[in-house]
Amino acid sequence: MHNTISTRHQNLYLEDVALDDIANQFGTPCFVYSKDAIRQNFMAYKEALGDQDHLICYAVKSNSNLAVLQTLADLGAGFDIVSGGELERVLLAGGDASKIVFSGVAKTATDMRRALQVGIHCFNVESETELALLNATAAEQDKVAAVSVRVNPDVDAKTHPYISTGLKENKFGIDINLAPEIYQRAAQMDNISVVGVDCHIGSQITEIKPFIDAMDRLLVLVSELESMGIRLNHIDIGGGLGVRYQNEDTPTVADYMAELLPRLEGRHESLVMEPGRSITANAGVLLMEVQTIKSNGLNNFAIVDAAMNDMLRPALYQAWMDIQPIKHNSSAQEATYDVVGPVCETGDFLGKGRPLAIAEGDRLCLFSAGAYGFVMSSNYNSRPRAPEVMVDGDKTYLIRARETITDLVRGEQLLPTGS
Ligand code: LLP
Repeated sequence: MHNTISTRHQNLYLEDVALDDIANQFGTPCFVYSKDAIRQNFMAYKEALGDQDHLICYAVKSNSNLAVLQTLADLGAGFDIVSGGELERVLLAGGDASKIVFSGVAKTATDMRRALQVGIHCFNVESETELALLNATAAEQDKVAAVSVRVNPDVDAKTHPYISTGLKENKFGIDINLAPEIYQRAAQMDNISVVGVDCHIGSQITEIKPFIDAMDRLLVLVSELESMGIRLNHIDIGGGLGVRYQNEDTPTVADYMAELLPRLEGRHESLVMEPGRSITANAGVLLMEVQTIKSNGLNNFAIVDAAMNDMLRPALYQAWMDIQPIKHNSSAQEATYDVVGPVCETGDFLGKGRPLAIAEGDRLCLFSAGAYGFVMSSNYNSRPRAPEVMVDGDKTYLIRARETITDLVRGEQLLPTGS
């Protein structure tokens, strides 16, 4: 677990704030992030990259709260976006448009127009259709769109099938073998300027080798393009570095760069990266309270006030995320619990078979909830979404208020009476 979490007097702290105090102030369920952890995780990339010419584009999808984006923008981060909504968030948070790369399998003309208008760094194009649409959209505005082609290098990232993206059979990118042809066509388009190549092979990758294999394949392509007279400015290796949820032996950013950077030695292209999870996952937790403890003779259930609508990862990917009491309960007996939410689905669990010494009313902390947590939350079962809080030293800031019933029905309309 990240070093911004500590235990003091049998109480869990994030930086210098007791999680119990946050739960008292903001209620549960509640997402809490450490500003310092976000900063440290981002700086680990900067430091590991050293003199290598680079642009770190934080993957907004992993946690898109405005205050999180602002924290990263202030550190000089670029951003990897996948929608018009993410673009507006980055701009609202003070992000620099010229450091944005726009990924995503099928961008709309409306999103392209806005991105061209604000002058993003480049579009990561994933199909010929998209390339043609971008050329036409840029022509309307008399602009030239900077393009990087997302290729599919066909490497096995050895991660969960739902978050593996670089295999031949996935929907992402363009087959690397067909890429030269597409580059040639792109180079001839009036409103396209070819600037880079990119790939993203998957997420929660805990080995370095798949990244290196992907880079080696990209480099073969870059040489081939060069011999065709197409010279690129950057190589984007995507995101995907895994984090420790349980006891995964995850390489550090420094380990990863120590193997990757020698591959780029002496080359003129700059390196673009799109990390998400490795910046935000272990910078955040989800606080929740045990509502009911019950047993069916086979299993003990701790029914908490957070659910799959707040944190979908366990239900969707069978992801294991650590759960601990935020305060020691000396009068509770340890037992094995399935920690589940109140949503009407058997799949609504946060953790199974967890040894915990807890009682009703105790508060728990679900770790590593800073990435793919709030952003994947929903209002299923008409549950207002949880608030988000940022800790900075001994200060706490509410960075998103708990939703109200008014928020829940915003935009809905009753039919006219008598219709
Ligand atoms: N770049 C692109 C084009 C991506 O599709 C992604 C993530 C990233 C960068 C950032 O990858 P990261 O560094 O965060 O691994 N919801 C899943 C993860 C989905 C990842 C989707 N793409 C989960 O909770 O495990």
